[in-house]
Amino acid sequence: MTASKQANVTPERVARTTNLMTTVSQDRYGGPEVLKLKPAAKPIPKDNEILVRVYAAPVTAAGTFMREGSPYIGRLFMGLFKPKFDIPGTGFSGEVEAVGSTVQKFKEGDQVFGEKIFAQGTFSQYITLPEDDVIFIKPKNVTHAEAAPVTDGHLTSLNFLQNVVQLKPGQRILIVGASGSLGSAAVQLAAHRGAHVTGVCSSKNVEWVKNLGAHAVIDYTKEDFTKTSTPYDVIYDTLGKSSFRACKPVLSRRGVYMSPVLDFGLLLQVLWTSFIGKKKARFSATGMVPKPQLNTMMKTLAQLIAEGKLITVIDRKYPMEQIVEASAYVDSGRKKGNVVITME
Ligand SMILES: NC(=O)c1ccc[n+]([C@@H]2O[C@H](COP(=O)([O-])OP(=O)(O)OC[C@H]3O[C@@H](n4cnc5c(N)ncnc54)[C@H](OP(=O)(O)O)[C@@H]3O)[C@@H](O)[C@H]2O)c1
Repeated sequence: MTASKQANVTPERVARTTNLMTTVSQDRYGGPEVLKLKPAAKPIPKDNEILVRVYAAPVTAAGTFMREGSPYIGRLFMGLFKPKFDIPGTGFSGEVEAVGSTVQKFKEGDQVFGEKIFAQGTFSQYITLPEDDVIFIKPKNVTHAEAAPVTDGHLTSLNFLQNVVQLKPGQRILIVGASGSLGSAAVQLAAHRGAHVTGVCSSKNVEWVKNLGAHAVIDYTKEDFTKTSTPYDVIYDTLGKSSFRACKPVLSRRGVYMSPVLDFGLLLQVLWTSFIGKKKARFSATGMVPKPQLNTMMKTLAQLIAEGKLITVIDRKYPMEQIVEASAYVDSGRKKGNVVITME
C-alpha cells in the first residue's frame, strides 16, 4: 500500500465503510497501560435498541476504580479475575445511526447523550442500548464533549443534593473538591437551589470556582476547613478527603456529612449515625439508583443545561487513540472538571 493510501485508512473511514469499528479494550485490571485500541464488529441493534455513533465519552475518576478493579469487593460485580465487559466507559454523547423495529422514542439522526452501565461500555465508536435506558436528546446549546460527562459529575451531585439531603434555600453547604467533576457541578447546582455555597479547592482554582457560583472559597493549601468557626448544614466531600469525625465540629446541630467515596470508615459512620446522634453521615452509589429516578434527574439536568443555568467544565479533550494519556491525567487527581475522549 502506498503512503497516501495508508494515510486515508483512519478508524473513522473503516467504521463508515465496513461493519468494523474501533473500541478501547481492557483484558485485565491495572493502570492506564491495560487500555488498548481494538477492532470489533459494529453492533446491530435489537428490535428495542438504538445504534449510536459515539462522538465523546468521559474519562472519569470512578472509571479509574473500575479499570483497576478496586476495591476488591467491587469485583463481585465487575468480574473476579478480569473485567466481565472488556470495553470500559459509561457516559456518552453521539448520534442515533439506526433504530430497531419497535423503537418509538428515537429516530435516525437524533443527537443523544446518556449512560450505559453493567454492560459493554462507551469507549467505542458505536454502541447499542435499549431505548428505555438513560438516554436523552442532547441540548442544542452544548457540544457532544460537554454533554458526555453529565452522567458523571452532574448526575451524581444532583443525586446527593436532591435525594441524599434535600438541600434548601439559605442552607450553608461546604463542597470539598469544588474544582473536580462532581464538585464543579455541585457548586452550580447548590447555588441554583439558593444555598450559601463554600467551595474548597487550591489557589489556582479559586477564581473559576467563584465564577461557577461559590459565595466563598477556602484554599485547602492555606487553610484547614475543619478548623473554621462557621457551622455548615451540609458538608459534601466529593473526594472523601476528610471524614465525618473530622467534620463533626463544623457541622450544624442537625448537619449532614456526605461523600460519594465509600470506605470502611464511612460505612461504619453511616451505620452508626443512622441510629445515634443528630449529626449524620451519608453515602449513595448513583449507579444503583433506580432507572426512573435517574431519568427524572437527567430531565432536570438537561433542562438546566438548555436554559444555560448549568455548564460542563471541560479541562482536556483527547482523541480516542490517546486513551492511555487521558487516563493517566485523570489518575493524577489534578483534573479541573472533566476529561473526555473524542471519536469524531
Ligand atoms: N458514589 C457515586 O455515585 C460516585 C459517582 C461518580 C464518582 N464517584 C467518586 O467521586 C470521586 C470524585 O470524583 P471527581 O471526578 O469529582 O474527582 P476529580 O475531578 O478527579 O478531582 C480532582 C480535583 O480535586 C481537587 N483536589 C485534590 N485534592 C484536593 C483537596 N485536598 N481538597 C480539595 N480539592 C482537592 C484537584 O484540584 P487541585 O489539583 O488544585 O488539588 C482537582 O481539581 C471519585 O472518587 C469517584 O470515584 C462516586
